[in-house]
Amino acid sequence: MTKTWTHIPILAPEIADLLLIHPEGKYMDGTLGLGGHTHYFLTRLGKTARVFGFDRDEEALQMAQEKIKDERLITFHASYTQAPQLLATQGILPLDGILLDLGLSSYQLDNPARGFSILHDGPLDMRFDVGSSLSAATIVNTWPLEKLVQILKDYGEEHRAEEIALAIMRARKERPFTTTHQLAQLIETVIPRRGKNHPATQTFQALRIACNGELEAVAQIMEALPRLLKSGARAAVLTFHSLEDRLVKNRFKELAQSGQWRLVNKHAIAPSYEEVRQNRRARSAKLRVIERS
Ligand SMILES: C[S@@+](CC[C@H](N)C(=O)[O-])C[C@H]1O[C@@H](n2cnc3c(N)ncnc32)[C@H](O)[C@@H]1O
Repeated sequence: MTKTWTHIPILAPEIADLLLIHPEGKYMDGTLGLGGHTHYFLTRLGKTARVFGFDRDEEALQMAQEKIKDERLITFHASYTQAPQLLATQGILPLDGILLDLGLSSYQLDNPARGFSILHDGPLDMRFDVGSSLSAATIVNTWPLEKLVQILKDYGEEHRAEEIALAIMRARKERPFTTTHQLAQLIETVIPRRGKNHPATQTFQALRIACNGELEAVAQIMEALPRLLKSGARAAVLTFHSLEDRLVKNRFKELAQSGQWRLVNKHAIAPSYEEVRQNRRARSAKLRVIERS
Protein backbone atom coordinates (compact mmCIF):
# COMPACT_ATOMS: atom_id res chain seq x y z
CA MET A 1 0.00 0.00 0.00
CA THR A 2 1.41 3.44 -0.88
CA LYS A 3 1.64 5.93 1.97
CA THR A 4 -0.64 8.99 1.86
CA TRP A 5 1.30 12.12 2.77
CA THR A 6 -0.38 14.98 4.52
CA HIS A 7 0.35 18.58 5.40
CA ILE A 8 -2.02 20.61 7.55
CA PRO A 9 -2.28 24.18 6.21
CA ILE A 10 -1.49 26.76 8.88
CA LEU A 11 -3.83 29.69 9.66
CA ALA A 12 -5.88 28.84 6.55
CA PRO A 13 -9.18 30.56 7.51
CA GLU A 14 -7.31 33.62 8.87
CA ILE A 15 -5.27 33.91 5.65
CA ALA A 16 -8.38 33.47 3.49
CA ASP A 17 -10.13 36.29 5.41
CA LEU A 18 -7.18 38.63 4.94
CA LEU A 19 -6.15 37.68 1.41
CA LEU A 20 -9.22 36.76 -0.63
CA ILE A 21 -10.84 40.15 -0.76
CA HIS A 22 -11.70 39.90 -4.48
CA PRO A 23 -13.68 36.63 -4.77
CA GLU A 24 -13.38 36.51 -8.57
CA GLY A 25 -9.73 37.57 -8.54
CA LYS A 26 -6.42 36.14 -9.74
CA TYR A 27 -4.26 34.73 -6.95
CA MET A 28 -0.85 33.17 -6.76
CA ASP A 29 0.07 30.44 -4.30
CA GLY A 30 3.85 30.64 -4.58
CA THR A 31 4.41 27.55 -2.42
CA LEU A 32 1.57 25.21 -3.40
CA GLY A 33 3.02 22.16 -1.61
CA LEU A 34 0.27 19.59 -1.14
CA GLY A 35 -2.25 22.34 -1.91
CA GLY A 36 -3.74 22.64 1.59
CA HIS A 37 -4.18 26.42 1.49
CA THR A 38 -5.28 26.54 -2.14
CA HIS A 39 -7.77 23.72 -1.62
CA TYR A 40 -9.38 25.75 1.14
CA PHE A 41 -9.14 29.04 -0.78
CA LEU A 42 -11.03 27.52 -3.74
CA THR A 43 -13.97 26.80 -1.45
CA ARG A 44 -14.11 30.53 -0.74
CA LEU A 45 -13.47 31.87 -4.26
CA GLY A 46 -15.94 32.42 -7.10
CA LYS A 47 -16.39 30.53 -10.38
CA THR A 48 -14.18 32.80 -12.46
CA ALA A 49 -11.37 33.11 -9.90
CA ARG A 50 -7.96 31.62 -10.71
CA VAL A 51 -5.14 30.35 -8.51
CA PHE A 52 -1.67 30.07 -10.06
CA GLY A 53 0.18 27.48 -7.98
CA PHE A 54 3.98 27.29 -8.01
CA ASP A 55 6.27 24.70 -6.45
CA ARG A 56 9.82 23.54 -7.08
CA ASP A 57 8.81 20.06 -5.98
CA GLU A 58 7.22 18.20 -8.89
CA GLU A 59 6.03 15.31 -6.73
CA ALA A 60 4.21 17.72 -4.40
CA LEU A 61 2.61 19.47 -7.38
CA GLN A 62 1.28 16.16 -8.69
CA MET A 63 -0.20 15.30 -5.31
CA ALA A 64 -1.81 18.75 -5.09
CA GLN A 65 -3.34 18.39 -8.55
CA GLU A 66 -4.71 14.94 -7.75
CA LYS A 67 -6.26 16.21 -4.55
CA ILE A 68 -7.70 19.46 -5.86
CA LYS A 69 -8.89 18.62 -9.42
CA ASP A 70 -10.30 22.08 -10.11
CA GLU A 71 -9.89 23.93 -13.38
CA ARG A 72 -9.48 27.21 -11.50
CA LEU A 73 -6.04 25.97 -10.38
CA ILE A 74 -3.20 26.33 -12.87
CA THR A 75 0.14 24.89 -11.75
CA PHE A 76 3.74 25.71 -12.60
CA HIS A 77 6.70 23.50 -11.77
CA ALA A 78 8.93 26.48 -11.09
CA SER A 79 10.32 28.64 -8.33
CA TYR A 80 8.07 31.47 -7.23
CA THR A 81 11.00 33.72 -8.20
CA GLN A 82 10.16 32.92 -11.83
CA ALA A 83 6.55 34.06 -11.40
CA PRO A 84 7.03 37.70 -12.49
CA GLN A 85 8.41 36.57 -15.84
CA LEU A 86 6.19 33.49 -16.35
CA LEU A 87 2.96 35.25 -15.43
CA ALA A 88 3.86 38.39 -17.41
CA THR A 89 4.53 36.46 -20.63
CA GLN A 90 1.13 34.77 -20.28
CA GLY A 91 -0.62 38.11 -19.78
CA ILE A 92 -1.76 37.16 -16.27
CA LEU A 93 -0.34 40.10 -14.30
CA PRO A 94 -1.24 42.02 -12.18
CA LEU A 95 -2.61 39.78 -9.46
CA ASP A 96 -5.15 40.32 -6.66
CA GLY A 97 -3.13 38.46 -4.06
CA ILE A 98 -0.16 36.27 -3.27
CA LEU A 99 0.44 33.67 -0.59
CA LEU A 100 3.90 32.44 0.36
CA ASP A 101 4.04 29.67 2.97
CA LEU A 102 7.80 29.42 3.29
CA GLY A 103 10.06 26.49 4.11
CA LEU A 104 9.28 22.84 3.65
CA SER A 105 6.11 20.78 3.91
CA SER A 106 5.42 17.95 6.35
CA TYR A 107 5.45 15.62 3.37
CA GLN A 108 9.04 16.59 2.54
CA LEU A 109 10.15 16.43 6.17
CA ASP A 110 8.48 13.12 6.93
CA ASN A 111 9.56 11.35 3.74
CA PRO A 112 12.99 9.75 4.46
CA ALA A 113 13.75 9.58 0.74
CA ARG A 114 13.92 13.39 0.57
CA GLY A 115 16.70 13.58 3.16
CA PHE A 116 15.42 16.50 5.26
CA SER A 117 14.86 14.61 8.49
CA ILE A 118 17.23 13.98 11.36
CA LEU A 119 14.87 11.35 12.75
CA HIS A 120 14.43 9.14 9.68
CA ASP A 121 17.53 7.86 7.92
CA GLY A 122 17.72 8.61 4.21
CA PRO A 123 20.00 10.00 1.50
CA LEU A 124 21.51 13.36 2.48
CA ASP A 125 19.57 15.23 -0.17
CA MET A 126 17.33 18.17 0.95
CA ARG A 127 16.61 19.52 -2.55
CA PHE A 128 13.11 20.96 -3.05
CA ASP A 129 13.60 20.34 -6.77
CA VAL A 130 15.22 16.93 -7.29
CA GLY A 131 16.34 18.16 -10.72
CA SER A 132 18.62 20.81 -9.24
CA SER A 133 22.31 20.00 -9.00
CA LEU A 134 23.18 21.05 -5.42
CA SER A 135 22.32 18.51 -2.72
CA ALA A 136 23.17 18.68 0.99
CA ALA A 137 25.66 15.82 0.41
CA THR A 138 27.50 17.90 -2.21
CA ILE A 139 27.77 20.76 0.28
CA VAL A 140 29.13 18.70 3.19
CA ASN A 141 31.46 16.63 0.98
CA THR A 142 32.94 19.37 -1.20
CA TRP A 143 32.59 22.86 0.25
CA PRO A 144 35.67 24.43 1.88
CA LEU A 145 35.84 24.98 5.64
CA GLU A 146 35.14 28.73 5.53
CA LYS A 147 31.96 28.27 3.48
CA LEU A 148 30.71 25.53 5.82
CA VAL A 149 31.37 27.75 8.85
CA GLN A 150 29.62 30.66 7.16
CA ILE A 151 26.40 28.79 6.35
CA LEU A 152 26.29 27.17 9.80
CA LYS A 153 26.55 30.63 11.37
CA ASP A 154 24.39 32.60 8.94
CA TYR A 155 21.66 30.08 8.15
CA GLY A 156 21.77 27.86 11.22
CA GLU A 157 22.65 30.49 13.84
CA GLU A 158 24.85 27.67 15.18
CA HIS A 159 27.19 28.83 17.95
CA ARG A 160 29.54 25.89 17.49
CA ALA A 161 29.89 26.32 13.72
CA GLU A 162 33.72 26.01 13.62
CA GLU A 163 33.78 22.81 15.67
CA ILE A 164 31.08 21.18 13.56
CA ALA A 165 32.67 22.26 10.27
CA LEU A 166 36.08 20.92 11.36
CA ALA A 167 34.53 17.60 12.38
CA ILE A 168 32.81 17.37 8.97
CA MET A 169 36.11 18.09 7.17
CA ARG A 170 37.89 15.35 9.15
CA ALA A 171 35.14 12.76 8.74
CA ARG A 172 34.64 13.29 5.01
CA LYS A 173 38.32 12.47 4.35
CA GLU A 174 37.69 9.01 5.80
CA ARG A 175 34.27 8.44 4.24
CA PRO A 176 32.08 10.88 2.25
CA PHE A 177 28.66 11.62 3.75
CA THR A 178 25.78 9.87 2.08
CA THR A 179 23.00 9.66 4.69
CA THR A 180 21.19 11.91 7.16
CA HIS A 181 22.01 9.64 10.09
CA GLN A 182 25.71 9.63 9.27
CA LEU A 183 25.75 13.43 9.60
CA ALA A 184 23.43 13.55 12.62
CA GLN A 185 25.61 10.99 14.43
CA LEU A 186 28.80 12.90 13.70
CA ILE A 187 27.27 16.08 15.13
CA GLU A 188 26.29 14.17 18.26
CA THR A 189 29.99 13.45 18.80
CA VAL A 190 30.63 17.23 18.81
CA ILE A 191 27.53 18.35 20.75
CA PRO A 192 26.08 15.66 23.02
CA ARG A 193 22.30 15.24 23.06
CA ARG A 194 20.61 17.32 25.74
CA GLY A 195 17.00 18.48 25.95
CA LYS A 196 14.40 17.75 23.31
CA ASN A 197 16.06 19.31 20.24
CA HIS A 198 18.57 17.16 18.40
CA PRO A 199 22.04 18.83 18.35
CA ALA A 200 22.05 18.61 14.53
CA THR A 201 18.86 20.69 14.16
CA GLN A 202 20.66 23.96 13.37
CA THR A 203 23.07 22.25 10.96
CA PHE A 204 20.20 20.61 9.08
CA GLN A 205 18.41 23.97 8.83
CA ALA A 206 21.58 25.64 7.50
CA LEU A 207 22.12 22.94 4.86
CA ARG A 208 18.51 23.08 3.70
CA ILE A 209 18.59 26.86 3.32
CA ALA A 210 21.93 26.79 1.49
CA CYS A 211 21.02 23.89 -0.75
CA ASN A 212 17.81 25.56 -1.96
CA GLY A 213 18.98 29.18 -1.96
CA GLU A 214 15.99 29.89 0.27
CA LEU A 215 16.88 33.33 1.59
CA GLU A 216 17.94 34.61 -1.82
CA ALA A 217 14.57 33.45 -3.18
CA VAL A 218 12.65 35.24 -0.41
CA ALA A 219 14.63 38.45 -0.98
CA GLN A 220 13.97 38.21 -4.73
CA ILE A 221 10.20 37.73 -4.47
CA MET A 222 9.97 40.52 -1.88
CA GLU A 223 11.66 42.86 -4.38
CA ALA A 224 9.25 41.72 -7.11
CA LEU A 225 5.99 42.44 -5.22
CA PRO A 226 5.33 45.78 -6.99
CA ARG A 227 5.59 44.04 -10.38
CA LEU A 228 3.11 41.33 -9.35
CA LEU A 229 0.31 43.06 -7.48
CA LYS A 230 -2.34 45.56 -8.55
CA SER A 231 -3.68 48.42 -6.46
CA GLY A 232 -5.83 47.01 -3.63
CA ALA A 233 -4.08 43.62 -3.85
CA ARG A 234 -2.46 41.89 -0.89
CA ALA A 235 0.53 39.65 -0.13
CA ALA A 236 0.42 37.24 2.82
CA VAL A 237 3.63 35.58 3.99
CA LEU A 238 3.99 32.79 6.53
CA THR A 239 7.50 32.42 7.94
CA PHE A 240 8.98 29.81 10.26
CA HIS A 241 12.27 31.23 11.51
CA SER A 242 13.76 34.60 12.31
CA LEU A 243 16.00 34.79 9.23
CA GLU A 244 13.17 34.68 6.72
CA ASP A 245 10.83 36.69 8.94
CA ARG A 246 13.39 39.51 9.17
CA LEU A 247 13.58 39.74 5.37
CA VAL A 248 9.79 39.94 5.06
CA LYS A 249 9.37 42.36 7.96
CA ASN A 250 12.05 44.75 6.65
CA ARG A 251 10.73 44.71 3.09
CA PHE A 252 7.15 45.30 4.24
CA LYS A 253 8.37 48.20 6.40
CA GLU A 254 10.22 49.70 3.45
CA LEU A 255 7.14 49.38 1.20
CA ALA A 256 4.89 50.92 3.87
CA GLN A 257 7.32 53.83 4.29
CA SER A 258 7.03 54.55 0.56
CA GLY A 259 3.42 55.56 1.24
CA GLN A 260 2.13 53.28 -1.52
CA TRP A 261 1.56 50.21 0.64
CA ARG A 262 -0.17 49.59 3.96
CA LEU A 263 0.60 47.00 6.62
CA VAL A 264 -2.64 45.10 7.16
CA ASN A 265 -1.47 43.81 10.54
CA LYS A 266 1.02 45.90 12.48
CA HIS A 267 2.40 42.89 14.34
CA ALA A 268 2.84 39.39 12.99
CA ILE A 269 -0.14 37.09 13.55
CA ALA A 270 0.61 33.79 15.32
CA PRO A 271 -1.52 30.62 15.33
CA SER A 272 -3.76 30.13 18.34
CA TYR A 273 -2.86 27.87 21.25
CA GLU A 274 -5.49 25.44 19.98
CA GLU A 275 -4.01 25.32 16.46
CA VAL A 276 -0.50 24.71 17.85
CA ARG A 277 -1.89 21.98 20.09
CA GLN A 278 -3.33 20.23 17.04
CA ASN A 279 -0.39 20.92 14.74
CA ARG A 280 3.05 21.22 16.37
CA ARG A 281 4.51 22.55 13.14
CA ALA A 282 2.44 25.71 13.55
CA ARG A 283 4.33 26.70 16.71
CA SER A 284 6.93 28.93 15.07
CA ALA A 285 4.68 30.35 12.32
CA LYS A 286 4.30 34.10 11.83
CA LEU A 287 1.93 35.70 9.35
CA ARG A 288 2.47 39.16 7.83
CA VAL A 289 0.12 40.79 5.32
CA ILE A 290 0.58 43.94 3.23
CA GLU A 291 -1.74 45.76 0.81
CA ARG A 292 -0.87 47.89 -2.18
CA SER A 293 -2.72 51.23 -1.97
C1 LIG B 1 5.25 24.86 3.79
S1 LIG B 1 5.14 24.08 2.26
C2 LIG B 1 3.64 24.69 1.58
C3 LIG B 1 2.44 23.92 2.04
C4 LIG B 1 1.14 24.39 1.42
N1 LIG B 1 0.82 25.74 1.76
C5 LIG B 1 0.01 23.46 1.84
O1 LIG B 1 -0.88 23.93 2.58
O2 LIG B 1 0.01 22.30 1.44
C6 LIG B 1 6.31 24.93 1.30
C7 LIG B 1 6.45 24.47 -0.13
O3 LIG B 1 7.18 25.49 -0.83
C8 LIG B 1 8.00 24.87 -1.77
N2 LIG B 1 9.05 25.84 -2.09
C9 LIG B 1 10.10 26.21 -1.35
N3 LIG B 1 10.81 27.16 -1.98
C10 LIG B 1 10.17 27.40 -3.15
C11 LIG B 1 10.40 28.30 -4.24
N4 LIG B 1 11.44 29.12 -4.27
N5 LIG B 1 9.50 28.29 -5.25
C12 LIG B 1 8.43 27.46 -5.26
N6 LIG B 1 8.18 26.59 -4.26
C13 LIG B 1 9.04 26.57 -3.22
C14 LIG B 1 8.45 23.59 -1.13
O4 LIG B 1 8.82 22.66 -2.11
C15 LIG B 1 7.19 23.17 -0.34
O5 LIG B 1 6.42 22.29 -1.10
